[in-house]
Amino acid sequence: MANILIVYTSIEGQTARIAEHMAQTLRERGDRVETLRAEGSCRDLDLSRFDGVIVGASIHYGHHPAYLRALVRRQRQQLAARQSAFFSVSLSGGGPGARPASAQRYLDKFLRRTGWQPQLTASIGGALQYSKYAPWKKWIMTKIVGFAGGNTDTTRDYEYTDWQAVSNFARAFGERLTARN
Ligand SMILES: Cc1cc2nc3c(=O)[nH]c(=O)nc-3n(C[C@H](O)[C@H](O)[C@H](O)COP(=O)(O)O)c2cc1C
Repeated sequence: MANILIVYTSIEGQTARIAEHMAQTLRERGDRVETLRAEGSCRDLDLSRFDGVIVGASIHYGHHPAYLRALVRRQRQQLAARQSAFFSVSLSGGGPGARPASAQRYLDKFLRRTGWQPQLTASIGGALQYSKYAPWKKWIMTKIVGFAGGNTDTTRDYEYTDWQAVSNFARAFGERLTARN
């Protein structure tokens, strides 16, 4: 049994759902898991009591949040001292407008800019939650998504997350920790 932290950022909530799904998968294995939404209060985050850390973040306008980048940079040594994993959530990562090469570029850029080298990484398809967007955001999203060949009917939401792949990622991380202990 391992102590695991999943720290994430999420604007419309999909990354939060993915983080909770990973937590549930790991708990079913018998691991002890905490989830934490990254925010200002994470300045003094103490990773010493965790065997492993998973970091997750969504993409908006081509970037992961700068404050998560700063957090990872600050925690680089602590992360290097234990098993760690990173998952990036975006529309490029799944769905009809998926662009796997772009999703990989987002992920690589984050790791390059933080100098962090996690043992596991994944790009995961997110969600289009038109019902949660303000009118201006809805309009922008129909342009971006339409250009990429995605769903532009704003009367409903769309989820492109492959939950099986999410479980597999969490399980693979848990197994690495078990193998190490
Ligand atoms: C305003 C906005 C901008 C976005 N920009 C991108 C983008 O540049 N590339 C991409 O692949 N996905 C983009 N997305 C899709 C999000 O990554 C996706 O909706 C994800 O599920 C959001 O996760 P969250 O709910 O955890 O914040 C964007 C979404 C919104 C609402």
